Amino acid sequence: MDYFRHHDGRLWCEDVALDRLAAEVGTPAYVYSKRTVVEHVRKLRAAFAEFDPLVCFALKSNGNLALLDVVRREGCGFDVVSGGELRRVRAVGAKPSSVVFAGVGKTVAEMEEAIEAGILFFNVESEEEVEVLAATAARVGRRAGVAIRLNPDVDPKTHTYISTGKKESKFGVDIERGEALARRVLALPSLELRGLQCHIGSQLTTVEPYVQALERCVALATKIRADAPSLRFLDMGGGFGIYYQDDVAPPIDAYAKAVAPVLRGAGLRLVLEPGRVIVGNAGVLLTRVLYRKISGDKRFVIVDAGMNDLIRPSLYGSYHRIWPVLGDAPPPLGTESDLPLHDIVGPVCESGDFLAKDRPFPPGTKAGDLLAVMSAGAYGFVMASQYNARPRPPEILVDGAKYAVARRRETYDDLVRGEIARPAYAKLNAAPPPGTPVRKGKGGGRGSTPKVAAKPTARKPAAKPPGSKAPASPRARRST
Ligand code: LLP
Repeated sequence: MDYFRHHDGRLWCEDVALDRLAAEVGTPAYVYSKRTVVEHVRKLRAAFAEFDPLVCFALKSNGNLALLDVVRREGCGFDVVSGGELRRVRAVGAKPSSVVFAGVGKTVAEMEEAIEAGILFFNVESEEEVEVLAATAARVGRRAGVAIRLNPDVDPKTHTYISTGKKESKFGVDIERGEALARRVLALPSLELRGLQCHIGSQLTTVEPYVQALERCVALATKIRADAPSLRFLDMGGGFGIYYQDDVAPPIDAYAKAVAPVLRGAGLRLVLEPGRVIVGNAGVLLTRVLYRKISGDKRFVIVDAGMNDLIRPSLYGSYHRIWPVLGDAPPPLGTESDLPLHDIVGPVCESGDFLAKDRPFPPGTKAGDLLAVMSAGAYGFVMASQYNARPRPPEILVDGAKYAVARRRETYDDLVRGEIARPAYAKLNAAPPPGTPVRKGKGGGRGSTPKVAAKPTARKPAAKPPGSKAPASPRARRST
């Protein structure tokens, strides 16, 4: 479901004609439909209503502040994966008690910030991380909530780059080691075991992998429940599929229906971490045709958006529908027309810079025409870069017949901000790392035995662990 419709000879986002919008804001530009976002949140919540879910929007999919504010007003919490994302959700006034923090490589500084903020829980992903988190919480003087991210070893049947629930993936703790880690968390006074979590991948278009994964998590919850009175949450992650090329993803109710019997037996509050299903079909990327050309047998359409603006086709071979904004509606989802094949490519100096390959496309499209790249609301702008010194596009939020520039287009000044053409060079004044040979005064010539720098523990103790704001405890120094 989305509110991008072709009628009256043009594509509309809600009640805004996209050709007129492009004339005002320029191209390339990301355009989001607020109504689509709101309806997706409501549909998801309704589908899982029986379990009173805490919906933590995964802002890695789209971190625009105006959009985050929309989902927060719909009652969502947030799934963050970095200190930067925590900063974003705080900027829109998110309740820390509705924030969960995931990721395999949290730094001590990020842990400190999140503990001080009072987030609901960290999804911990390794034994070593648990020890560092415990030491950090002890030093901050506040208990940290923990959910153990389990790797249930199920195949989510999605692109390998976005598959996370198989054993060979870097994510989570093997389900066999989950119980031992849960007991370790229970034994650490600065931690509170609040949940079990799994996220097995993204753009899942079948329900069975969720059922299998949750069965394994619930089995573990049942095993440890008697010793874990604080265990209250079961977090099934995100990953619900959307339509790009075909309408293959089941409706959200189908996922809810499939997992309901497993969740009913769990007796835990459900947490969801959806990203794509909320925003993916709620956004398009508008781009203008610059040139056409024929090279050998190939027909190229060269547009003003490149892989730096939308990297998904280049990185994953992802399919995004692309169609002219003005003129007839595209063929229905999932049908291929017999139009001549075109490569739709960007201006970036890479052969891998394309938005579509061998795509049936109206041959009459010419320079100056406006195209819409569909289903670009998730993992679009957030993965954009300034490669080739290209300013990133603006993000526009449409609400009914109105629109707002939620993030302005970057300027050339933005490109060079923070850089200095002729920086002042400075000498290192840090202590040499342990084991570094130290040559001293006269005796340091050829043939003399170099002395070795002392271990840092023999020197004045380091004030802080790396990346930390607070003074270090001996344990934190050991474990970082
Ligand atoms: N929770 C965790 C722990 C995750 O790692 C992810 C996504 C989500 C939730 C949200 O998943 P979603 O509901 O959006 O599928 N850049 C890729 C997708 C990467 C997904 C990373 N993790 C793409 O463009 O397809």
